[in-house]
Amino acid sequence: MGPGAAPPVDLFPIFHWLPEKFWGNWIQRSNRVGSNMNKLHRKLLSEIRRRRENPTYQRNSVMDSVLDQNEKLGLTDHQMYFFCGVLVEGASDTTATAILSFIHAMTKWTGVLRKAQEEVDRVVGEGRSPVWEDYDRMPYVAATIKEAMRWRAVVPLAFPHAATEDDWIDGYFIPKGSAVYINVWGLHHDPAYFSNPEMFDLDHFKGKTALAPELASVTDVDLRDHYGYGSGRRICPGMHLAERNLFLAIAKLIWAFDIGPGIDEKTGLTIEPDVDPQTGYQEGLILGARPFACRMSVRSEARRDVIVREFQKVDADVFSKFEF
Ligand code: HEM
Repeated sequence: MGPGAAPPVDLFPIFHWLPEKFWGNWIQRSNRVGSNMNKLHRKLLSEIRRRRENPTYQRNSVMDSVLDQNEKLGLTDHQMYFFCGVLVEGASDTTATAILSFIHAMTKWTGVLRKAQEEVDRVVGEGRSPVWEDYDRMPYVAATIKEAMRWRAVVPLAFPHAATEDDWIDGYFIPKGSAVYINVWGLHHDPAYFSNPEMFDLDHFKGKTALAPELASVTDVDLRDHYGYGSGRRICPGMHLAERNLFLAIAKLIWAFDIGPGIDEKTGLTIEPDVDPQTGYQEGLILGARPFACRMSVRSEARRDVIVREFQKVDADVFSKFEF
């Protein structure tokens, strides 16, 4: 799953016929990744089964509802633990990658960060960090998130879909069963819709604060914000959670830190950020920034105190429930 870690062998069967020297030992690597995934996800299921044996355990996880109904569902263990494991994978890698692209953009477009900080400070002040309830009062931050999703779409070709029946679109015949790709990158970088598409420019989303799930269901495509969660019946089912995660992470980063380009330790000069999608980003199913130089500093001592205080609370209320 790591950006650039493996070519999309399943998408292009020709890779199966290439000798191993192409793309490194990808067959071995794929087997290793497969067996690690099985091990990790299997652990999840056995851990939940172990907990369920305890009479005080409260059955309130997704996995519990699957296990409770499995007589009817008839899923194998492998299907069950992959169902849950893939949900975790689909959620974490993507969200982390989008947050990294935002930080990357802030090393170059520092003016955007300053304006976002003004908005966050006006709404929240210094005594606490932003919470979800602040969303409606932060249109600039909302646009920052949409622009990060547009500028460096996490999954530039979404996932392949298949036509369930013969169809005609704009004079092209699409036979049943055809693989259909959504060119998310092309849509996001079409100058007819987004002027200067390579610029991280919040004007691209001026006045568009509705969340992506709401805009994904509009019938007029011109009203859509972006295709970062895919499209159609297989659109990302986690986008409601993702939108909230992204807002919390990004608004808190804006509130807490000054972000800027890195400094060369030897020369003391600023390192020009490489935001080029070809040289600054890794290829793969997921498009993520290569390691980049960046300076981050807490904006004030008062904010540092809030971060420590809020972390202690979360540690006690949430993290303490889990074993790491
Ligand atoms: C910024 C974060 C996220 C991005 C950019 C993202 C993006 C995507 C994309 C592009 C697809 C393919 C949609 C299509 O085929 O048209 C997808 C599918 C999926 N996503 Fe997300 N996702 C994110 C967060 C999440 C979260 C938080 C969850 C779970 C809680 C999740 C679970 C899934 C699942 C299960 C699928 C497969 C759906 C299917 O094939 O029917 N994703 N996601």
